[in-house]
Amino acid sequence: MPKIISRALMAALLGGVGLWALSLAQPLPSVDCDPQALARQQATFAEILRFDFDKHPDLSTANLFRLGAIYQQMALACGYKPNEQEVQAQILQTLSLADVAQIVAARAVGTNSLAILAKWEAEGIVGDSFNGQLLFNGLANGLDGSPLGCAGCHNDQTAPAIEGVWTRTVEQHLRDPRLAGYDARRYLVESIVMPNAYIVEGYVGDLMPSYFGQRLDLQQLADLVAFLESQDQ
Ligand code: HEC
Repeated sequence: MPKIISRALMAALLGGVGLWALSLAQPLPSVDCDPQALARQQATFAEILRFDFDKHPDLSTANLFRLGAIYQQMALACGYKPNEQEVQAQILQTLSLADVAQIVAARAVGTNSLAILAKWEAEGIVGDSFNGQLLFNGLANGLDGSPLGCAGCHNDQTAPAIEGVWTRTVEQHLRDPRLAGYDARRYLVESIVMPNAYIVEGYVGDLMPSYFGQRLDLQQLADLVAFLESQDQ
């Protein structure tokens, strides 16, 4: 029976650029679901994951994507489940290789309020209003490691005061026919990630930056909304 990763492929995985380029060009090895073959495979993975990628800059992220692809193949074909350690090691290695901009982009919430609400629901994410307050006041940073600047504008003059924002949302904004079908959370999410979709009366549009969907992850946005929800009158 063919081994999933042969010694030769392993050498290519860990070897120099030339060998590596060769192995990437090859199709993924076929999966052997025999328990013994899987056990050997697992041992090989463990070796690869212990490898110190920092000392070998010639080994690219592609190594790990390939490893991930093999895992995926094994999961589909054999019902193989990587153990906690393997998953953790792979996540850490991927994070150490991927550049920060890519990681930030992959974790950012984006601008679709309905999709964000659905993900909160699916992932069981609950906002922490205390952390939301820290984010709002610049005492905790966005995904990119910089303060968000909410409090600088939301001082009642440049932008609506945050005190009573929940009450105003329910008693005023949600009665506006343009927001038909919205509930308060969706309104607040959209106010943050797509500020120009609805301009609060008495204030100007195009002032609040529209980049927060790229600077917050699901948890941070939930925290901010929980904080806003707590600012009742
Ligand atoms: C550069 C100034 C500025 C910054 C920074 C800013 N905002 Fe705003 N924000 C505004 C302005 C102006 C409005 C009102 C106009 C509008 O609806 O876009 C507004 C509207 C809102 C509303 C709707 C308020 C209401 O009464 O209905 C919410 C909620 C909100 N911002 C939250 C935030 C949060 C959270 C942050 C930080 C992540 C933030 N804003 C950062 C200027 C800003």
